[in-house]
Amino acid sequence: MEALKGRDFLSVTDVSVEELHGLLDLAAQMKAGKAKPRREKVLGLLFYKASTRTRVSFSVAMYQLGGQVIDLNPNVTQVSRGEPLPDTARVLDRYLDVLAVRTFAQEDLQSFGDYADIPVINALSDRFHPCQALADLLTVRECFGTFNDITLTYLGDGNNVAHSLLLGCAMVGMNIRVATPKQFEPAADIVEQANKIAAGKSEVRLTDDPIAAVKGSDVLYTDVWASMGQEEQARTRIPLFQPYQVNEDLLSYADSNAIVLHCLPAHRGEEISDGAIEGHQSRVWDQAENRMHAQKALLASVLGAD
Ligand code: CP
Ligand code: NVA
Repeated sequence: MEALKGRDFLSVTDVSVEELHGLLDLAAQMKAGKAKPRREKVLGLLFYKASTRTRVSFSVAMYQLGGQVIDLNPNVTQVSRGEPLPDTARVLDRYLDVLAVRTFAQEDLQSFGDYADIPVINALSDRFHPCQALADLLTVRECFGTFNDITLTYLGDGNNVAHSLLLGCAMVGMNIRVATPKQFEPAADIVEQANKIAAGKSEVRLTDDPIAAVKGSDVLYTDVWASMGQEEQARTRIPLFQPYQVNEDLLSYADSNAIVLHCLPAHRGEEISDGAIEGHQSRVWDQAENRMHAQKALLASVLGAD
C-alpha cells in the first residue's frame, strides 16, 4: 500500500478500485496475523472521575514499557451519550490490550471485566483503590524493610482507600488499625474478609478512638474526608472528622520512627495538617512516585512477557 502513503482518506472514492481491493486484502492478512506490523501494546484509560496521579503514572508506566496509551475521556466518547457499558466493553476489547477504569460502582468495573476479555484494572471505584494499595505497600516495605510487626493506622473515612488497605495489609501480614467516626466505618464485609485473611496472625482493629489507634503505630495514613462523588457532604463532615486529623499532636503518640502517608490529593487543614504532610516523617512524595513503579509491574504482569 505504498501508493497510499501520505494521501488523505476522506471518502472511499479517494482510492481507486484497485487500491480498495488491495486495502481489503491487507486488512484480511493482518486480521489473520500475517503481514502483522510490530505491534505495541495499548492501554486505554476510561476515567469517569478526575485523576492526576493515576492517569499520569499509568501513562508513563505504559510508555516506559514501550506501549501506548489512549485517553478515553467519557465526555468525548459515546459512553456519555448512553452507549451501554457491555457494548463499550466488548468494542474496547477488540482494540486495546489492557483497560484501566476509574468509576463509581464496583459493579460497573465487574461488568467491564466480564464483557472484555482483555485485563481490566480498577483505577479507583467507590469501593476499592487497589493500585493505590500496591504503591502503599511498596512504600512501607521500602521504609521498614519488612511488614512483620509493622502497624499501619488509617485515620478518617472508611472509604475505598481504607478498604484496599485493610485487604492489602492483611494479605502481607501487616497490622492494620482503622480509626473512623461512628457511621463512617469501612464496610462490614470487607472487614470480615480482612479478618479472614489475617487469620489472627496480624491485627485488624477498628476503633473510633484516634489516639488509642495511633499509639505504637509505625505508619499514619489518611485520605480526604469526602471522596469524589460525596462533595455535597464535605462541609457537614468536617466537625465529625476533626479529631482524626493527622497532625503533629497525633503524630506524637505514634512510634518515634513513624512515617506519614496520604494517597493525595490532600486537603491541608482538614484530614492532614501542613506540618504533618511537609514534616520530616512524611513519605507522601515517595508514595506518589511508587504508584508508577507498582503499576508498571502490574501492567507488565497482566500483559505477559510477549
Ligand atoms: N491517589 C490518587 O489516586 O490520585 P489521583 O486521584 O490524582 O489519581
Ligand atoms: N477516597 C478518595 C481517593 C482519591 C484518590 C476518593 O475516592 O476521592
